Amino acid sequence: MKIFLSGIQPSGALHLGNYFGAMQPAIELQGQGQAVYFIADYHALTSVTKPELLRKYTFDVAAGFLACGLDPARAILFRQSDVPQVHELAWLLSVVTPLGLLERAHSYKDKVAQGAEMNHGLFAYPVLMAADILLYHADAVPVGKDQKQHLEIARDIAQKFNDRYGEVFRIPEPLIRETTAIVPGTDGRKMSKSYNNTIELFAEPKALEKRIMSISTDSTPVADPKPVDGSILAQLMQTVGTAAQYETFTARMRAGGCGYGDLKKELAAVTRDFLAPFQEKYRRYQAEPAEVEAILDEGARRARELARPVLERARGATGIGHGR
Ligand code: TYM
Repeated sequence: MKIFLSGIQPSGALHLGNYFGAMQPAIELQGQGQAVYFIADYHALTSVTKPELLRKYTFDVAAGFLACGLDPARAILFRQSDVPQVHELAWLLSVVTPLGLLERAHSYKDKVAQGAEMNHGLFAYPVLMAADILLYHADAVPVGKDQKQHLEIARDIAQKFNDRYGEVFRIPEPLIRETTAIVPGTDGRKMSKSYNNTIELFAEPKALEKRIMSISTDSTPVADPKPVDGSILAQLMQTVGTAAQYETFTARMRAGGCGYGDLKKELAAVTRDFLAPFQEKYRRYQAEPAEVEAILDEGARRARELARPVLERARGATGIGHGR
């Protein structure tokens, strides 16, 4: 059976980029094999420094994943830190990871360029991510395009380990959906918490509309046709709306006579309607935290079961332990 695996950092509120880049594809795969999805709280420690905030975000991502359709009867959902064995594997992997591989990581280089204070956790981030993936023998990893290089690093590390110690790990494939590989944010750059350009999945309708009204547009006069190519509004409508809604929207843009304000209102209404059922379920999970915790506990139990034989094999292959 194929194993699908993905992780989300609890480093802030979930947004449309998370949903369309990773969560929706991941949820669609849950009937087609064993789905293993987790909340990467160890990874989020590299950016979230307040303990109560990390706990809140971790819960919110779990509730959000469930609200968007993750089915705990079919998929395993767990907290990364409930399987601390991942750190043992990260160590076994770190001894086959060349420094150059980590130095070339875009996310690391970006942080250095921004003048961020570097620590070992940020530098070793891709090794822990490789351990996340390899510990569960994942075949395929649904992610957005920004994670492509991290997947390549994970593949490289797995290959290096196998070359040295024999065939222990499966080489995972990235699954990147072309149409939603990079969902744009309100300023046209990749939607990202760190750019403060996100449209949140669980924002109140008023806040949601305010965000959408703030999307950057050009200065085409109301009466003139609006360019569809390169338009953030059109791209978001294509992502959130149905094919018919997109057609109507872009026809209005091309016809002219309709200002950006009205177009944004239309996008806001479509987005609100799209998110409404998720938001309703989210409120239910927020009101029943014990239910979410029970799902995470059961997920962690199953995840540890999957991880145990893989870690044992990796330990045995390296000569760690008594080998009996
Ligand atoms: P994170 O938490 O930044 O994002 C979670 C997922 O959302 C996707 N994503 C996007 N996709 C399209 N357009 C966007 N604007 C956009 N923004 C975010 C990301 O690509 C990701 O799939 N390192 C990972 C977490 C992680 C992980 C793993 C993922 C830890 N271990 C093992 C897969 C496998 C991260 O920071 O994702």
